[in-house]
Amino acid sequence: MSYSAILLVGGMGTRLQPLTLHTPKPMLPVAGVPFTEHQICKARDAGINEIVLATSFKAELFEPYFGDGSNFGISIKYAVEKEPLGTGGAIRNAAAMLSGQGPVAIFNGDVLSGHDLAAQLAFHESQSADLTLYLTEVGDARAFGAVELDSDHRVFAFNEKMENPPTNIINAGCYTFNREVIASIPDGRVVSVERETFPQLLMSGARVFGYVDRSYWLDIGTPAALLKASQDLISGRAHSAATPQNNGEFLALPGASVSSSAVISQGTVIGADVVIEDGVHLSGCIVGNGARIGARAQLTNSFIAPGASVAKAAIADSQFFGYNE
Ligand code: GDD
Ligand code: MG
Repeated sequence: MSYSAILLVGGMGTRLQPLTLHTPKPMLPVAGVPFTEHQICKARDAGINEIVLATSFKAELFEPYFGDGSNFGISIKYAVEKEPLGTGGAIRNAAAMLSGQGPVAIFNGDVLSGHDLAAQLAFHESQSADLTLYLTEVGDARAFGAVELDSDHRVFAFNEKMENPPTNIINAGCYTFNREVIASIPDGRVVSVERETFPQLLMSGARVFGYVDRSYWLDIGTPAALLKASQDLISGRAHSAATPQNNGEFLALPGASVSSSAVISQGTVIGADVVIEDGVHLSGCIVGNGARIGARAQLTNSFIAPGASVAKAAIADSQFFGYNE
């Protein structure tokens, strides 16, 4: 069976500023490739053969990189919202561009997960579900959708971002939707699946199931989380078919020049054509293409913009270099 998918990549990425001033969140590099590439490869490897990117904020930056998808082994199309339609409106709008039949896998565009997507799709079919939510468990569910389910994995309540969540089981941001459910989302207006569609489906008695998978899960919506995702992919704590070859300590892209006296560690990514001078220490950093790091600089958990220069002997922890121009 082949499946269709929609990737929600229209959000503003406000919590990631200044990284998202010129780049939408899903196009930010994580372990050397745009974050979206990890999700596209995951979808492809689970048997999905077409995916529509639901874009809005900085929509024009996706297609030049991903094209028609032929370089990635999957058909890619683009549904652009002039004004953001919310998660539900985006799904309804993008679904019009899908050609296949059958259930649709839908991804939040900012989640790195090790969950078994093929198993989620099979679970959806085996339950004859209308909608299946991938769920995971977190220590603090307040920033997420907290989901209540019975012993048969049937969902009976969905609580988006509440102060006292009744459970630590959360919406992990990957759904399987039957086409009829997508068709029931109102057309042409802003709709939130979390605040409108899911509660309505539950009220109407629809078959909504939770697929619980506690493997690696991370929402990359903050700078610290984005760095962690990149570091985890390089150290091997997380896995993606899209991560370029590396030595487990760092990743250096083609054309990078790294002094033999530099010490690079903790999943640092060194972009293409970067120059790292003598005696530099980099730990857990993301260095954009064409940047230059001056001799003896010591940087930890920091972002260096493409083309930026860091002064000799600079010392920084959790800083941004060159993003405000
Ligand atoms: N196309 C489009 N249009 N995409 C959108 C829009 C829109 O109007 N609004 C949001 N998105 C995309 C974002 O780009 C992101 O990929 C995804 O939808 C989810 O939006 P976020 O803004 O990241 O939501 P969140 O992280 O606060 O909460 C969501 O994710 C949690 C898991 O990470 C919710 O789905 C929660 O229930 C969930 O627990
Ligand atoms: Mg998010």
